[in-house]
This record gives sequence, C-alpha cells and structure tokens, in this order.
Amino acid sequence: MKTIHVSTEHATAFVDIEELACNQRDVVRARNILYKQSGKGKEFLGWLHLPSSVQEEELAAIEQAAAFFKSHVDYVVVIGIGGSYLGTKAVVESLQPSFKAYTPDSEWPHILYAGHHISEDYLSELSEFLQGKRFGIIVISKSGTTTEPAIAFRILKAQLEQSLPAEEVAKYIVAVTDAQKGALRKLAEQSGYQSFVIPDNVGGRFSVLTPVGRLPIAVAGLDIRSFLKGAAEMERFLEMEPDLEKNPAMKYALIRNQLFHSGFLIEILANYHPNLHFITEWWKQLYGESEGKLGTGIFPAGVDLTTDLHSMGQYIQDGQRILFETVLTVLKPKRELRIPLLDTDDDELNYLAGKRMDEVNKMAELGTRMAHVEGNVPNILIELPELNEYYLGQLLYFYENACAISGYMLDVNPFDQPGVEAYKKNMFALLGKK
Ligand code: PA5
Repeated sequence: MKTIHVSTEHATAFVDIEELACNQRDVVRARNILYKQSGKGKEFLGWLHLPSSVQEEELAAIEQAAAFFKSHVDYVVVIGIGGSYLGTKAVVESLQPSFKAYTPDSEWPHILYAGHHISEDYLSELSEFLQGKRFGIIVISKSGTTTEPAIAFRILKAQLEQSLPAEEVAKYIVAVTDAQKGALRKLAEQSGYQSFVIPDNVGGRFSVLTPVGRLPIAVAGLDIRSFLKGAAEMERFLEMEPDLEKNPAMKYALIRNQLFHSGFLIEILANYHPNLHFITEWWKQLYGESEGKLGTGIFPAGVDLTTDLHSMGQYIQDGQRILFETVLTVLKPKRELRIPLLDTDDDELNYLAGKRMDEVNKMAELGTRMAHVEGNVPNILIELPELNEYYLGQLLYFYENACAISGYMLDVNPFDQPGVEAYKKNMFALLGKK
C-alpha cells in the first residue's frame, strides 16, 4: 500500500536522549492500552474499527440522500460546530477547486456552513443570500442540544418553511444525531426528517468518518467510498504493524511527546497549500480537545505557508524556543503551471522560467525547514502522496489513531472534554436559561 509517511530525522536531535528508551516503552504501552480497549475513555473507541465496518446499506442511503440534494437544490447548508463540521470542511476545502464558490452552475450543490458561531451578521447575510435560492439543510449535532447549531437551525428552518409548501419541507432537511437522545433526535422524529446516526461510542472530534462527515462530503460530489477505503487500509496497517519505526502513528505520537518533555510545548502544523487550511483546523480540535487537560498537553497551532512566513515567520525562526513544527507536504500537485520566460526579464524572474510553481513551492518548503531546524525548531515531516479522497482517508484516520496513543502517553483521557462546559455554564447563566 502506498501510504503517508512520517519522518522524524530533523526532530530527534532535539530530544533528551536519556529519556529515549523510556519514551519508546511508553508508546508501546499506550498503543497496547488502545488496542486492548482498557484505557481512560474506552467507551469512546467506536472510531477505532469504524472504517472497515461500515455497512453497504448505510453508504447507499447516504449516496441516495446526496443524489436528492444534487437534483433538487443548488446549496446545502451544513449546520454544526466543532467535530460536527470541521471534518467536512477539512475534506471539502482540500479537494474542491478553490473557485467553485464562484461557479453558479456546478453539478453538485455548493456547501455553505452555519451554526459554527453565533454571529448575527453572518447568519443574517447567509439568510439573505439564500433568499429565492433552492437550498437544503444538513443539521448535525451529536448531543442534539448545542446552542450554536440549534439557533442557526431554528432560523434557517423557518426560512425553508416560508419558501416551500409545508408537506415538502421535511424532504429538504436531513439530521445527523444520536440514535435516541437529544432535542434534534426528537425533532427529526416528530417532523419526519431523514436522519443518520452518530454512534454513541464515537466522540464529535473523532466522527469525520461517520455520517457526520460522510453525508456532506458526498453532497459536495466527493467519493466517500475512496475516502473510507483509504481510512480502512490505514486502520488495518496501523493495527498490524507494531514496529514503531514503521508504524507512522506510533512514530508521530512518540516524537511529539519526546519533544514536549524536552520543553517544546507548542506544535505548529504547517502546510504549503491554502486548501489544507481546514485540515489544520480539524487537527487543532482533535489534538487540543483530546490532550489539553489536567494542566498538560501540547498546544496545537497552525500556519499556512508561505503566506504566514510574512507574518509569523519571524517568531517561528527567532522567538521563544518552545515550538516544534510538523510540515504536512503533498508530493504530487493536481495541476501543472510553469513560470513563463520574458524577453525583457524586468522582474528578474527569468532564472525560474520553465520551472513549475510546485518546484518553487517545494524549494521554499525545504529552505524554510532547513532554516527552522537551524533556528532550533525541531521538524517533523508528514508526506501525503497526493491530495485525493483516498489519501485524506488515510491521513485523518492516522491522526485519530496517533492522537489516542499520544493522549495515553500524556496519561489523560483523550476522549472527554470537561473544559468545554465552563463557557456554556456562564453563558447560560448570563442568558437566564432555566
Ligand atoms: O469533540 C467534541 O465532542 C465537540 O467539539 C463537539 O464536536 C462539539 O461541541 C459539537 O457538539 P455536538 O455535535 O453535540 O453539537
């Protein structure tokens, strides 16, 4: 199997060598806990064997729902927050052409997002934009009670009700939620919405391979079978490969923990393709929410390069030495564009003439990695052979698996998020919720 590859050669020199053997034993211990399903939060391991156990029936139902939207609407609003929207956005933005949003007559619906914040301006602009347009809604909430998506759904559902005959409305709404619990489940049953289930044993940030991600990704016209195949192959590979040099999840979990214990407290995920921006956002939630508890955890941050070299580059190169960098690189670009030769060479770029943009980008990447390593920023490299559904399936499953191992190495429960409740408690009290 061609697979994503993790290299740590430019990070190991920064690690406290005395702790090496101890950390190596620890990653094996953490992986055993994961596969024996004996660790903290073991009731939330539904994602571990999920890719290989998806039923054909459920896939077909998702494709059917996507086909309905394709033939009936031009826009689908995905309502959800955190794990209920970031995975979709990560995959869709990575794979869709960058300017699809400006194409009025595309084959598949445009995906729009709501319920991922409470901005009045945003939602009212979205609602205005949707006036007179054919649109549907996918509302996603595992708990079925999260305030941000619930507000957005209330408002956009009312808009749909105004624009369609009463008996038609339910056909344009699909809910993805718990099998039994929560207000959204109740509403879906009462109103006759088609619904898909988020398994009880899969937490929000580990749910991209469930209908939470699969349905909207299919609606965007992407190949969910290939996405799942990549994930399932990575699932098998990681389970069968106990050698930490060959198992990328163990390798990544090990090095980031070693760096953390050597004083590198912040991991910056860097990409060189703007369409990977939301992979970083998804990864930030996965790692931040899984590890940041009990006063520990590596702080996940992100940069889009080379863009942010002109803003954050100075700090990374020269600021406080508490950062390590993980570069997510794509080996083969989808397109080809060469730099033209000019007779006059007024812009002094003829030395690049005939080269592909990607060659220049790769040299920027290499040069930056070298400079950062020289500036004492340890570097991990994750290579993605190509940007497509199959390799994104591999990548996202790899990150989930490594996150669980890494969380167990930190001795936290990687599957809970008690800290998220604090703001809600205050907000509800301030709003007078009974
Ligand atoms: O990872 C998590 O569990 C959270 O970030 C949730 O995904 C997020 O809070 C949304 O929750 P829900 O799907 O219940 O609306």
